[in-house]
Amino acid sequence: MKKNFVYLAVAAMMLTGCSEKPMVASPDGNIVVDFASDAEGHPTYSVSVGGNQLIAPSRLGVVTRGGILPSGGNPEVSHSSFNEIWHQPWGENKTVENRYNEMAVKLAGDDADVTLRFRVFDDGIAFRYEWNVSSADSVVVTDELTEFNFAVDGRSWSIPASFETYELNYQTLPVSQVMNANTPFTFVTDNGIYGSVHEAALYDYPEMVLRRDSVGTPLKADLAPLPDGVKAYLPSAFTTPWRTIQIGSKAVDLINSAMILNLNEPSKIADTSWIKPQKYAGIWWGMHLGTQTWTMGPRHGATTENAIRYIDFAVDNNLQGVLFEGWNEGWENWGGNQHFDYLKAYDDFDIDSIAAYAASRGIELWMHNETGGNIPEYEAALDSAFAYYQSLGVHTVKTGYAGGFKDGYLHHSQYGVRHYQKVVETAARYRIMLDVHEPIKETGIRRTWPNMMTREGARGMEWNAWSEGNDAAYLTTLPFVRLLSGPMDYTPGIFDIDYSTAKADKGRIEWNGPNAHCCIKTTLARQIANWVIIYSPLQMAADLMENYQDNEAFGFFRDFNADCDRSEALQGEIGEYIVVMRAAGNRFYLGAGTGLEGRTLTQPLSFLDKGVTYNAVIYADKPGSDNPEDIAIIRRQVTSSDTLTIEMNPSGGQAVTFIPAD
Ligand code: NOJ
Ligand code: CA
Repeated sequence: MKKNFVYLAVAAMMLTGCSEKPMVASPDGNIVVDFASDAEGHPTYSVSVGGNQLIAPSRLGVVTRGGILPSGGNPEVSHSSFNEIWHQPWGENKTVENRYNEMAVKLAGDDADVTLRFRVFDDGIAFRYEWNVSSADSVVVTDELTEFNFAVDGRSWSIPASFETYELNYQTLPVSQVMNANTPFTFVTDNGIYGSVHEAALYDYPEMVLRRDSVGTPLKADLAPLPDGVKAYLPSAFTTPWRTIQIGSKAVDLINSAMILNLNEPSKIADTSWIKPQKYAGIWWGMHLGTQTWTMGPRHGATTENAIRYIDFAVDNNLQGVLFEGWNEGWENWGGNQHFDYLKAYDDFDIDSIAAYAASRGIELWMHNETGGNIPEYEAALDSAFAYYQSLGVHTVKTGYAGGFKDGYLHHSQYGVRHYQKVVETAARYRIMLDVHEPIKETGIRRTWPNMMTREGARGMEWNAWSEGNDAAYLTTLPFVRLLSGPMDYTPGIFDIDYSTAKADKGRIEWNGPNAHCCIKTTLARQIANWVIIYSPLQMAADLMENYQDNEAFGFFRDFNADCDRSEALQGEIGEYIVVMRAAGNRFYLGAGTGLEGRTLTQPLSFLDKGVTYNAVIYADKPGSDNPEDIAIIRRQVTSSDTLTIEMNPSGGQAVTFIPAD
C-alpha cells in the first residue's frame, strides 16, 4: 500500500465559549455536516448538499447499561484534511483516491470521553463513535440512537430489515413510508440528490438496520440483538463502525464511489501475492435444479469423474478455478443436526488425485464448507480444515451458512460478525481466499483483509431454480443497492434459459414441487452482460458445462478477465437500466442491462484507449425476438471516437469485448 502523498493539516480549535458552529465541508465544498445540540442538550448532526438540507438535525448517541454515550461535556472541536492515492491487489479500481475533510468533536464527561469523528468526502459523509469509559472495565450496549432524519422526501430502494438474511426482494417506497430497511438504503430525493445509507468497517459490533416506529418519525439505527436482548458486549475503549451516506448527483455516482473502502484501514496482509481474482465453474447448478445431489448416491455431483471433466473444461476455456459442492461427508445432516465433516471426502471423490490433477493442469481447486449454521462445530474445525486444504494446494474456500445458528444467535448479531471475521483472519493465516454465502454484509473490510474476496448477501442465481426467481427489475436494482457494499458472488451466466427439459429428464421434483419453475427471467445476452455488471473478483460460469460447450456465446467468458484494473458505471437509473465498463490490461469489457422494458441506449466509447483500433465482439439480443435464448454475435472494429447503439429487448442486455486489433 504505497502512499503517493499525504497532506495532513490539523487546526485544533477549542470551541468552549466560542460562538462558531462546529461544521465541516467536503473538499469541493458541496457537502456540509453541522454538529449541534438540540433543546435538551443531546448531540445532533445535519447534512446539506449544494446548500439544500438533506438530513435535518438528527440525534446521535449510544445507550449503554452505564448511561448514554456521550454523556455531556463541552465540545472540543478539531479539524484536519487528508488526501492520498492508494493501491489494492484487486478491485473494481486498483488505484483509489481517498480525500476528505475531518472534524472530531470530543465530549468529555465525568465517566467517559466520546469523540464523534466526522469525515466529509466529495461523494458522501461518515461518522462514528470512539469512546473511552473510565468508570468501568466494559460497556454493554443496549441501543443506538443514531437517526437519519430526511429533510426532504424521495424514492427509496432497499430490502426489509432482517437480522437473519439478505435474500429478500426489494421494496421501492417513498423514503417517508419506509418502516424498516436493511442497508445499503438507496434513495433519490425529490430535489434530485442520489444517496445511500450504509456502514463501513463493521467489526465486533452488530449490524445496523434502519427502523421507525411510525410514519412521521425519523429513521433510526437498530442493532441486531444477542439472545439476551443486549446488542453488544464491548471493552471500555471502543470505536464503532462508521455510519455512512454516499451522495451523488447521478445514480451511477453511487457505484463509482470508493467511500466505503476509503473508510477502512489499509491491508493487514503484507504479502498479497497469493490473492488473485479467478473465473471459475463447478458442480453447483445441477443440485439447485435437482438433477444432481450433494449427498452420495446415483446422482451425486461431486464425483472424481465429474471433477476431472470440470478441470479439463476449465483448462480448455481459460478459467482458473473449479468448485465441487457436496465433496465432503455430512450433507445427509443438512437441515437436521447440521453436522459436516470438513476433512473427510465422500468415497467417490478421490480428493488426493483430484488435487494433484488440478495442480498438474494449473487449475485452482476450491473447497466448499457448508456449515448449516453450526458455528461451534465449524470454529472447532477451522484450523485443521484450512491446514489440510493448504496441504492440498487449495487457496479458495466457499463457505455457507444455510441454517439458523445454534442457541438463538442471529446471523447478523455481534456473535455472527465475530464469527465471520474469525474465519477471514484464520483463512489469511493459511493463505486462503474466501467466498462467503449467507454472509454478514460487506462494509469495505476487503481493503484491510483482501482475502475476503466476495460474498452472496442477496438473492442470487439459485433463487431462479426453486422460487419465482429474480426478474430484470431486480437485477437492474442490485447494482445500485446491494452492490454498493461490495462484490457479489451472484453466480451468473445460465445459458439454458428454459431448463425444464433438464429437470424433466432427471425427474427431479423434491425442491421444486408442483410449481415447477422452468426459466431464467432474462435473455441470454443479459446473462452474459451480468458477468460485467455484477462485480466479483471470483466470477462463476454457473451453468452445467454441457450448456457452454460448442456454444459460441461462451466466447465472451473465455475472453473475459475477472482481474480488472479499472471500472466505471457509465449510465443508469435504479431498476431501469445500467451500463458498466471494466478495463483489464489492454482489453475492455462492457455490460449493459435493462429492466422489464425494452430499451435502446447510445454509449460513446470514449473510455477506450485513444489511437487504438479494437476488434469488438458484441453479444446482443435479437431485436424483437421473444425467444430469450436468441442471441446475435456481431464483430466489428471500433475506436474511442465511435458510439455504440445498445438495443435491448425487455429483460435483456448486451455485452461487448474490446480487444486491440494488433
Ligand atoms: C446456499 C448457497 O447460496 C448456495 O450457493 C449453496 O449451493 C447452498 N447453500 C448449499 O451450500
Ligand atoms: Ca444463499
